[in-house]
Amino acid sequence: MKSKKKIEKPKPEKQQPIKIEPPEDKIESRRVFLKKLWMGLGILAGAEFIGAVTGFLFSGKGNSKETEAKKLIEAGRVDSFKPNSVTPFRGGRFFLARLKDGGFIAVSLRCTHLGCSINWEEDKKRFICPCHASAFSIDGDVLNPPAPKALDYYPIIIENGIVKVDVGTRKQREKFNKDQLTFA
Ligand code: FES
Repeated sequence: MKSKKKIEKPKPEKQQPIKIEPPEDKIESRRVFLKKLWMGLGILAGAEFIGAVTGFLFSGKGNSKETEAKKLIEAGRVDSFKPNSVTPFRGGRFFLARLKDGGFIAVSLRCTHLGCSINWEEDKKRFICPCHASAFSIDGDVLNPPAPKALDYYPIIIENGIVKVDVGTRKQREKFNKDQLTFA
């Protein structure tokens, strides 16, 4: 009887992973690149920090002085605005209101809800926002929400009988009060 000879298949040799070391100059240039990258990021972060600090110091929040440049718009002669009237200055983004007592206030035409432009309704003597129906009185106080606070306003200067509005300085407020009015 013939003995069966088992033919063993040759086992595949385990392949060792081949390590390919990058040449020394490539490692060096990678190091230099990473160093430069970190330096660049550091400079960028530093610049942003300086910008934020400068912005805070000169924004008026950290400084009680008014630092914004005055940007005056001449609205017209005092006597050309009747008491209890509103005149739109859409280019200047405000309405000039003269109240019954003769005081002036320049209210922003931006609704304090989400910033839509308001309109003046002469028959109802109120401002109305077309977006979500907020309403404001002639002095900018909220008559109907969702607007959370009174309309922003701009300081007024009256010089030689001329009403001038400083549109470079928008002031926020919760409510109207008489100190916000300017008299001739
Ligand atoms: S934006 Fe004016 S009511 Fe909403």
